[in-house]
Amino acid sequence: MSFINFENISLTYRTKTQTIPIFDDLNLSIDKGEFVTVYGPSGKGKSTLLNLVSGFLRPDSGKIFVDGSDLCALSENEVCAYRNKRIGYIFQQFNLIYQFNVRDNVAVPLLLSGMKKYDIERRVDELLDMIGLSNRKNEYPRTLSGGEQQRVAFARAVANDPDIILADEPTGNLDSANGRKLIKLIKDLNTDKNITVLCVTHDARILEQSGSGGSRMIDIETITMQS
Ligand SMILES: Nc1ncnc2c1ncn2[C@@H]1O[C@H](COP(=O)(O)OP(=O)(O)OP(=O)(O)O)[C@@H](O)[C@H]1O
Ligand SMILES: [Mg+2]
Repeated sequence: MSFINFENISLTYRTKTQTIPIFDDLNLSIDKGEFVTVYGPSGKGKSTLLNLVSGFLRPDSGKIFVDGSDLCALSENEVCAYRNKRIGYIFQQFNLIYQFNVRDNVAVPLLLSGMKKYDIERRVDELLDMIGLSNRKNEYPRTLSGGEQQRVAFARAVANDPDIILADEPTGNLDSANGRKLIKLIKDLNTDKNITVLCVTHDARILEQSGSGGSRMIDIETITMQS
């Protein structure tokens, strides 16, 4: 069995007025340490795919296995623990906590994992140094540019040394130079720490860069029902 396995996944969103089928019998396997980029236009199910791996969303039928364990069989508490420990999620809309300063935003997953105060401070300093925002640590997200907020979101995502990085349009708010830098940070973690990366995007720059490193490209239109 591979590291991440989608087995016969079907999922349809149902609202009061609409039925939106997204996946029908999706099968997809991702190996440990792979860098997989799923690309394609808006509204096709890219974020949905990441939400299935993070356990935020459960399929109508089928199973998702991560490292041999069946996500659908986990309780709500177990899913939260799984997400905190194993998943680094870089959200499309950042999802920073706007009442917290930069340092505290990055510290949240460390606090949740029970790390000691002194170790948290050290780890946060290391992460802020990595993203080049040490001098902004006492500021609040609203005072940062979109690209800076994206980097804080990245630092928070990788704070706990996750096994899997889920990156949703990680360069969506960055200019091309900063976009390349962020992809390099993700790629370095993928190569140096064997972290598995599932990245979704419509951004051709990501395709160029991740494509050069022997990563796997998947066209969302070949796995979704949205046409
Ligand atoms: N909670 C929901 N309820 C109903 N429909 C939803 C829900 N979430 C997503 N959808 C619909 O499902 C489709 C796929 O959404 P998704 O967010 O996965 O697309 P995406 O490929 O990530 O798009 P984008 O590139 O714009 O972020 C869209 O048509 C969206 O409107
Ligand atoms: Mg999306």
